[in-house]
Amino acid sequence: HGVEQPEDTRTPVDDNLIVVGVSQVGSESVWRTANTASIQNVFTKENGYFLIFNNARQKQENQIKALRSFISQRVDYIVFSPITEDGWDTVLQEAKDAQIPVILIDRKVDVPDDSLYTTWIGSDFYKEGRMAATALDECLKRQNRGEDRINIVVLQGTRGATATIGRTSGFNEIAGEHGNWVILDQVDAEFTTAKGQEQMERLLRLHPDIDVVISQNDDMTFGALEAIRGAGLTPGEEGDVIVISFDAVKAALELVESGDITADVECNPNQGEYAETVIQKMENNEAVAKMYVVPETVFTRENVTKALEERTY
Ligand code: AHR
Repeated sequence: HGVEQPEDTRTPVDDNLIVVGVSQVGSESVWRTANTASIQNVFTKENGYFLIFNNARQKQENQIKALRSFISQRVDYIVFSPITEDGWDTVLQEAKDAQIPVILIDRKVDVPDDSLYTTWIGSDFYKEGRMAATALDECLKRQNRGEDRINIVVLQGTRGATATIGRTSGFNEIAGEHGNWVILDQVDAEFTTAKGQEQMERLLRLHPDIDVVISQNDDMTFGALEAIRGAGLTPGEEGDVIVISFDAVKAALELVESGDITADVECNPNQGEYAETVIQKMENNEAVAKMYVVPETVFTRENVTKALEERTY
């Protein structure tokens, strides 16, 4: 009789491969699809990885289930984009107890103990919000409306998500410095085109005098543009409603070029390479920083043409 061995529930893979469990938020946006592709492109067999990918379809409970399954399969690393910031303490403690490093990408977690994750790779969403406000300020100055009352509505992303929290606080901070900017409404449209359209239609019925829409991602913007046109209005700096967006995916940059969107604040989805670099450092026992912020810019008619030539997503 030997000593009873714990059951090995690990996915049988070539021992030389590094097993990475990835829990993705969902496929709510074009940006998200690009983010997923950037992960799938680096964690390949050719690069020495075995990837277990889970799409949580925008539900936290699905993400928790996926993380528990990665832990029971004893993956080498967990790469994880949390839908919201709250509610991760228990499952991240379980990963820590199992000694599985957790690499956060895109969004953050709000936990009392930051040893529950190794590092975070993502965007400075707060700065993005400020860049959106600055772009609006510049547009209003071009229009000589710098002193006029400006009625603003905000289409927000998923409640409690880092992207929503940061973009809202960054924008509101600068808005607060302009006594003439009035935020009429801030509504939740979940980062999707369908909700963006539905909420914008509702806002246009409630407020006949909207000057500006701040839409916290391009997908909601596509819906909002439908609603604006549907109401017989023209989007754009030369039209009736100024539209400021976030993400800067190709289809939206085309609308910056045509003038429908006045400014689009970039959100950089190419985080897979960063995650892979972090894992390689850890494999080599090298130090890893607690956060990596990806570079981002803002696009207007001035600089969009060149960016469009290079955009792949
Ligand atoms: O967390 C990043 C945000 O999530 C992107 O702006 C949005 O498009 C995505 O769904």
